[in-house]
Amino acid sequence: MNKRKLLFNALGSVMLLASCGGNVTSENREMDRFVSELMGKMTIEEKIGQLCQCSGGFATGPNNTKIDRTEDISKGLLGSMLNVSGAANTRKYQEAAMKSRLQIPLIFGLDVIHGFRTGFPLPLAEAASFDLDAIERSARCSAREAAAAGLHWTFAPMVDIGWDARWGRVMEGAGEDPYYGAKVAKARVHGLQGDDLSDESTIMACIKHFAGYGAPIAGKDYNSVDMSMGHFANFYMPPYKAGAEAGAATFMSAFNDFNNEPCTGSEFLLRDLLKDKWGFKGFVVSDWGSVSEMINHRYAADEKEAALKGITAGLDMEMVSECYSKNLKALVEEGKVDEKLVDDAVRRILEQKYKLGLFEDPFKYCNEEREKSVIGSKQSREDACYVAERSIVLLKNDKNILPLSKDVKRISLVGALAKSQKDMCGAWSCADVSKVVTLYDAMCERGYNVDYVEGYNLENNKIVDLNRTLSSARNSDVVIVAMGERAWQSGEMRSKGDISIAEEQQKLVSELVKTGKPVVVLMMCGRPVIFNEVRKNAPAILCTWWLSSEAGNAICNVLWGDYNPSGKLPMTFPQHNGQIPLNYQYKSTGRPTANGEWCAKYIDIPTEPAYPFGYGLSYTTFEYSDLKVNDSVNGDVYANVSVNVKNTGKYKGEEVVQLYVRDEVASVTRPIKELKGFEKISLEPGESKTVTFDITDEQLGFYNNNMDYVVEKGDFTFMVGTNSKNVQSIKYTLK
Ligand code: BGC
Repeated sequence: MNKRKLLFNALGSVMLLASCGGNVTSENREMDRFVSELMGKMTIEEKIGQLCQCSGGFATGPNNTKIDRTEDISKGLLGSMLNVSGAANTRKYQEAAMKSRLQIPLIFGLDVIHGFRTGFPLPLAEAASFDLDAIERSARCSAREAAAAGLHWTFAPMVDIGWDARWGRVMEGAGEDPYYGAKVAKARVHGLQGDDLSDESTIMACIKHFAGYGAPIAGKDYNSVDMSMGHFANFYMPPYKAGAEAGAATFMSAFNDFNNEPCTGSEFLLRDLLKDKWGFKGFVVSDWGSVSEMINHRYAADEKEAALKGITAGLDMEMVSECYSKNLKALVEEGKVDEKLVDDAVRRILEQKYKLGLFEDPFKYCNEEREKSVIGSKQSREDACYVAERSIVLLKNDKNILPLSKDVKRISLVGALAKSQKDMCGAWSCADVSKVVTLYDAMCERGYNVDYVEGYNLENNKIVDLNRTLSSARNSDVVIVAMGERAWQSGEMRSKGDISIAEEQQKLVSELVKTGKPVVVLMMCGRPVIFNEVRKNAPAILCTWWLSSEAGNAICNVLWGDYNPSGKLPMTFPQHNGQIPLNYQYKSTGRPTANGEWCAKYIDIPTEPAYPFGYGLSYTTFEYSDLKVNDSVNGDVYANVSVNVKNTGKYKGEEVVQLYVRDEVASVTRPIKELKGFEKISLEPGESKTVTFDITDEQLGFYNNNMDYVVEKGDFTFMVGTNSKNVQSIKYTLK
């Protein structure tokens, strides 16, 4: 093997950014002085109050008994509320907080997952853009609108890596890849928080769900998670760490257990790794009721023990359940909890309130005038359309059916989803449903001659009046079929045992294809789905996910070629449920997957996915050539990998050039390939560009079994291409 090991800090220490509070600046000293003075005046009850968050509105979890907490607020016994929004509404509660003895302002949080009143594509869809600027732009718009509606905090981004498409929450993340997930996490945190939390158009981000929530056993939401530390460090940890590095103000502990402890009570995760090793200075909030759920985990006998385990682990704020408010004082008095632990949690929360500027003006986010002008503004709509166009993935385009000619006269638009504003929003949406432009609306708005037919029943997926649908198709120039899952079929508590698209919807497409008319399928979904019959029969397929407010406009822009699709799948699409969990980044094993007999495969289903990670076509074509490695470089860069990419087709287009790396032999088993770089380039027809990737520790290293980040000398293969499967390779040796 002959490899030299370069050791780094165990589990990687984090470079703190100013927004996370790591730098000792005069501003920080002023904050320390202010917070210390305030804490000096606080009673233990008031301190514990800061650690409590209640829901003020609708339920996003069980046990949502509505109790009016206004009196507690005016006694200074509550630190935060969730599920309350609107400048006027939040003002009402903030006024109550201003009646309290020390007038400590509340912070208001909400799950602003993909846009606020102006909805943006699902996070998974946005990730398909491989466009970090677009992703940041989306988060910035979400923050701008949310902050104008009195909010200080979103419970986003969800950065959990997902390899299991049965898990409904994959819609909320950036897909399966840790390298890409880390880049997206940074972009989202920066988009939400900007460079200054006191800016009225930014809000606090919350990295969730720490940790490993995306790997529940059998894809069942809330299920246990069981993985080795090496697996965690290499495949699941990078986006969380990136979120801390980006200066996220808060983290959320996950519902699941991790290494035999509920995350909410895991001292290893919250205190040792996040706060000590990574130097995270913000605060950790539990997930909805997850402190008291430690009783269900059978990790705590009762609420008192749950409170003890939470505060000891480093869990600062309790969402919804009331273990802290009911028990922390007694625990301190009995000497079971050192008051210093409570103080540390209080300080972290007060510091964020200070950074938001709430002590200067508790009502600065409660401006109804601003709310009116910012929400749904022209800028928001433009941003939403821009991001939505870039989220669409072209999966198939036989005989270049797409883009459609501007001369297409008669369109048969089939499928109830084409007209459903609610579905278009996607799961976990704050969007104003009445302002969502459906596909049908957008086509009519453009003056096309559209014959809309329901096609199938939205509730039971049965074909509706096949004859009518087929005659509409026969009388048209092109048939556009909107199909897929309902929006509510992905998201929290929406795990599925079967991710196939309903049989009758698929049959309908086959019947439409038989008419001989060109058929374009729009696959609307919140996760990878299985649709083998459609894949085989339909000549053109676009994956349009759920794109929210501007869905119809973005889809039309792509159908008619005003925007040439450039999205790439951020998750592998399986052919069969039995293949799941499925990802491109698997390990060789001792009996690598192949066509032979004694190898890793199934006897009844294929091992190949339907579409690999990173897959997506364009209306134009790209040719890759001249792949080279140059190792005459200096500094922290070991080598450069370069490739020439030429637009060989008729249209201007964007291509996501992807770099994958394989460590040929290592001291631990390593994946067959890992994404380690990507660049999205735009090329005119006939134009070429050389794309160069730097090879540094980030490209070559990994966590070994001592949890050290190491780079080992030896042979590597660099692969560059248009998706994780279609690549060209070149060898490299690190000497
Ligand atoms: C989810 C979190 C969410 C919280 C508050 C929980 O059920 O797991 O992601 O932020 O509810 O709505």
